[in-house]
Amino acid sequence: MVTEQFGGRPAGAIAIYPGTFDPFTNGHLDIIHRSAGLFGKLVVAILRNEGKQPLFSVAERIEMMQQVLGPYANVEVDSFDGLLADYAARKGATVILRGIRAISDYEYELQMALMNRRLHPEIETVFLLAGEAYSFISSRLVKEVAALGGNVSGLVPPVVEARLKTKFQGA
Ligand code: PNS
Repeated sequence: MVTEQFGGRPAGAIAIYPGTFDPFTNGHLDIIHRSAGLFGKLVVAILRNEGKQPLFSVAERIEMMQQVLGPYANVEVDSFDGLLADYAARKGATVILRGIRAISDYEYELQMALMNRRLHPEIETVFLLAGEAYSFISSRLVKEVAALGGNVSGLVPPVVEARLKTKFQGA
């Protein structure tokens, strides 16, 4: 437990919220909204995965996410490559945060959490339940619906919706 005081505010744990965020959805925002107050600092960390063909470049994702997350004073957007657990340790984090939407997420998340624990036992994975209104939202489905001309309003922040339209409809 960190008890030091910085600038009159109690210092809290540093948490990393990692993901692909291609694109950032209202489900991700819900998890950040629920957790920002639980930690001293929350680093939303985008995996730079050259192997995957992303819809949005890392720079585009950072730009959109910084716009959306601007109001959260203790939330920072960053990117990483290599092992998540090593990155978290380098950032001085004691928590890796992941959102769980449904039981189907659990098996993959359990494997990752246990592997990360094996790599860095001092870092705990914390799971947060997404609000039920967001439990069906995934970046993959948002991309598919947007690519086929469907309405993704309410599923992603307005800035992401506008960028999806530009990508797929040139609007
Ligand atoms: O949003 P996603 O795609 O579910 O996020 C997955 C992510 C980025 C958290 C995961 O792929 C990851 O941590 N990759 C980094 C490489 C790594 O550490 N692999 C071992 C994980 S146990």
